[in-house]
Amino acid sequence: MERLVICPGSFDPITKGHEDIIRRAATLFDRVVVVVGANPEKRGLFTVEERAELIRRTCADLPNVEVDQFDGLLIDYVRRRKAVAIVKGLRAVSDFDYEFQMALTNKKLMADAETIFLTPNSDNMYLSSSMVRQIGHFGGDISPFIPEAILETVRQRMERTRTE
Ligand code: PNS
Repeated sequence: MERLVICPGSFDPITKGHEDIIRRAATLFDRVVVVVGANPEKRGLFTVEERAELIRRTCADLPNVEVDQFDGLLIDYVRRRKAVAIVKGLRAVSDFDYEFQMALTNKKLMADAETIFLTPNSDNMYLSSSMVRQIGHFGGDISPFIPEAILETVRQRMERTRTE
């Protein structure tokens, strides 16, 4: 049986940190489904569709990676896809509370739901989309943080929102 895992996130936008986790998950499992979920309380830099497209471009060379989007509870999506686990990156200690809470809540909703945490490489330890958005907003260089394949698109969007 194919071992399929779900890599969920808001990915606004995907960073080199996310890319690193997805690439490593793709070597460990048969199929990786990267799913974009939106936080309805937050207005994003990119729409959910755009974020999914940026991930597709970033992972275009990975044949066992699929990109999708979801609404509602993550665990319903996990169930529907018959995934064996949710895979997430765990960066610094500051992530732990939030991620642990989510993993345990998901387990409460679905008893056999497993969350597997991968450690990022040390370059990406402190990287987050919100930091990158902030750097971009104030005109800083985002190239160390954003995958090469989508850098220009992300730069242009940040430029546009700066002048709006
Ligand atoms: O790591 P992120 O980017 O904050 O993850 C966001 C996302 C979309 C994966 C998360 O908020 C989520 O799973 N939302 C769906 C709602 C849900 O299932 N909530 C219950 C688990 S806490």
